[in-house]
Amino acid sequence: MMQSLFNVLAGRPALCVYDVTTRCNSRCAMCSIWKRREKEMPLKDIKKVFSDLKRFGIHTLFLQGGEPLVRRDVFEVVKILDDMGFHTVVLSNGILLDEKVLKKLDSLNRSGRIFVTVSLDTLDRKKYIKIRGVDKFDVVTSNIRLLAKHPGLKGSVHATVTSINYNELDDVREFVHSLGLDFTFNSYNDTKNYASSGDKSLHLGNCMENVITEMSKVSQKLPPLYRPFIKDNIRYLRGEDVGRCDAFVHSFRLTSEGMLTPCLEFPPMFDLKKEDINRKWGEWSKKMACPVKRCYEKTPCFYGCTRGTGSIRKRPFAALNGLIYTLRR
Ligand SMILES: C[S@@+](CC[C@H](N)C(=O)[O-])C[C@H]1O[C@@H](n2cnc3c(N)ncnc32)[C@H](O)[C@@H]1O
Ligand code: SF4
Ligand code: SF4
Repeated sequence: MMQSLFNVLAGRPALCVYDVTTRCNSRCAMCSIWKRREKEMPLKDIKKVFSDLKRFGIHTLFLQGGEPLVRRDVFEVVKILDDMGFHTVVLSNGILLDEKVLKKLDSLNRSGRIFVTVSLDTLDRKKYIKIRGVDKFDVVTSNIRLLAKHPGLKGSVHATVTSINYNELDDVREFVHSLGLDFTFNSYNDTKNYASSGDKSLHLGNCMENVITEMSKVSQKLPPLYRPFIKDNIRYLRGEDVGRCDAFVHSFRLTSEGMLTPCLEFPPMFDLKKEDINRKWGEWSKKMACPVKRCYEKTPCFYGCTRGTGSIRKRPFAALNGLIYTLRR
């Protein structure tokens, strides 16, 4: 805990986004991760890599992919990480998140440090198919309702805003809040296509002013913790300066093969199975500072995982509000 606090104050990463697998049971238009076929780290390597990350001061893990729940031993992975003391957020498309899976996650969650976030972008079944590539709207909304009955998992729903769904954002929020779940969102990124699909038809360009109006309106209905991030997201969409990219500063990504890299859009860089981050961080962070800076200058993007901590950290009052909100949840 002390090391994580030090990391946040010293501008070192406290969040790691981990692709548990690249496999996925959806075919989303905005994403190309499901096209990759990367190896998955066995449990033995996971233990080594995450015990190094724990000592390094990582506090929160986003378990994503791909779809984490398609990995057979995902519960063992969650248990290992929870036993190590991480705050573990399982990011899921919700298709496999049935009552059996929720009960299993609940039973693992004696620590109260396991959280579940489900992606839902629309309340319209046809649009769901267009965005997510599979006909699973009914299953996912029904599983979200089940999630709401497991308050220990502090469920939330996350929407990705594209040209297809921006005008529904408040409806999705209302549905989610009516179930007592948290709601967050961020805009579609299409400047790269390592994780993003680069699909231009989802681009917000033609509807930008309406998107910004909708995002501003909805952000007023979210807890104060999330507002600084949405504010920066809107400034980013307007082409205003939102400061340096926070990739490899407040967070980084671990690929399914155990390679460290600044963010979702960077190719794998450093092998955490072979190296100890605690010995190499100084060298690696120096090495990556220029490429990340150049990347943001050339083709800026705005992901929640890279930007969230930075947006809150530069606004101390919002950070305090956020802390109070988190402790109360
Ligand atoms: C990559 S997915 C992995 C977890 C899980 N499969 C899911 O869909 O929730 C994590 C989140 O990234 C979002 N996402 C995917 N492609 C994106 C893009 N190009 N821009 C912004 N967010 C994106 C998804 O909608 C989802 O909410
Ligand atoms: S966004 Fe999530 S659910 Fe959709 S294809 Fe990518 S990994 Fe799968
Ligand atoms: S701008 Fe930042 S988050 Fe986006 S791809 Fe470049 S390094 Fe990654």
